[in-house]
Amino acid sequence: MIDSLQFHHIGIATRNIAKTAQAYACMGFTATTVVYDAIQKVNICFVSKANTPLIELVEPTESQSPINKILDDVGTSPYHICYQTTEMEADIEALQEQQYVLLQRPVAAVALDNRRICFLYNRDMGLIELLEEVT
Ligand code: NI
Repeated sequence: MIDSLQFHHIGIATRNIAKTAQAYACMGFTATTVVYDAIQKVNICFVSKANTPLIELVEPTESQSPINKILDDVGTSPYHICYQTTEMEADIEALQEQQYVLLQRPVAAVALDNRRICFLYNRDMGLIELLEEVT
């Protein structure tokens, strides 16, 4: 069992981060400043509200981004769930043993204080992100 993962945020794909942030503002969410992540080639902002899971808005800035496929298929929508871990390498290995495919080696995430993130895909789970928890 891989029980070290702790929920961190839901990632929402959008073509227009300002409009989506505005839609969340109408529901009482507060948005962070939009940050450009040059590694992922996306604009990112987080919207938050008390007693509500943290939500990340992700706007691709390049036409080759795989996020465009999601946007083409279903439009603005949730597309990943991020889990925090203090044991990133061990969890990646354990997930790979459970048929998760590592899509990207861990890289620094500018919108998350340069903590490392990676993405894995499993056909029964969908896309997940791991975020390294710095202790
Ligand atoms: Ni994310």
